[in-house]
Amino acid sequence: MDRFSESAAAVQPAEIIALLRWYQDAGVDEAIGDDPGALGRPRVAAVPSAPVQMAPPQPVQPEPRPSPRPQAAAVLPGSDAATGDARRIAAGCSTLEELAAALAAFDGCGLKATATQMVFADGNPDADIMIVGEAPGAEEDRLGKPFVGQSGKLLDRMLAAIGLDRSTVYISNIVNWRPPGNRQPNAAEIAISLPFIERHIALMQPKILLCAGGTSAAALLATREGITRIHGRWFERAFPDLPAPVPTMPIYHPAFILRQPGMKRDVWRDLLVLKHRMIELGCAFKSDA
Ligand code: URA
Repeated sequence: MDRFSESAAAVQPAEIIALLRWYQDAGVDEAIGDDPGALGRPRVAAVPSAPVQMAPPQPVQPEPRPSPRPQAAAVLPGSDAATGDARRIAAGCSTLEELAAALAAFDGCGLKATATQMVFADGNPDADIMIVGEAPGAEEDRLGKPFVGQSGKLLDRMLAAIGLDRSTVYISNIVNWRPPGNRQPNAAEIAISLPFIERHIALMQPKILLCAGGTSAAALLATREGITRIHGRWFERAFPDLPAPVPTMPIYHPAFILRQPGMKRDVWRDLLVLKHRMIELGCAFKSDA
């Protein structure tokens, strides 16, 4: 039996029920058109059998600063000096609490000035799975926690479909302050945030890392490939502070799924690929799952 048939045969009745529940929760009430035989079949054939070894990510180039006025000794938010500061400060933190405090005190990211508050993390810091999104939105900015708005609710349903919840995952974002008007964070904001999220991941030491959305995947995997090409695939992401690379999978961002409900079958496949890898690695699920 090849890898694909083995995995297809391994789909359990509980997974089929979870899939149906997932469709029901997502508001699907009709089956039209698509090959029903394909439902629930994990797309493991698309996952390389040997994990892809990623080159260490290249630093993201900061966007040219609009106002090049020299400011003696001032550390301008988004500047190379601010990014250097971020790297030095993050490297000096040896616990998640220290990192949160250092980030809260850090003035090098211009988004801090317009956001209500910093959004650091939610979930269980001892979980095996860490999910990194893009940036806080309005609800996250208001409540100080990642993924608590509409897309957070969908993320929770996605996790529940494979026996996970916020006691079995840990969630953060590339950028810790809300970009005004929910715009995408720019290259300079990502570059300055990267040392903190890399240290965050290294301190959390997940068994599996999920990049929620193309911005997170591009920042953490230093790839130019779009999310539609790389979702559901495994990458091995090395961190200088960790002894071994972390198996890392990009998934569709829940906000994208809300806009493109036709993606749900792909999402389900990715979730099954994740679940199978979690079982292989002995990761913890919800106790009642
Ligand atoms: N989108 C994200 O990427 N992160 C959040 O925390 C909320 C929405």
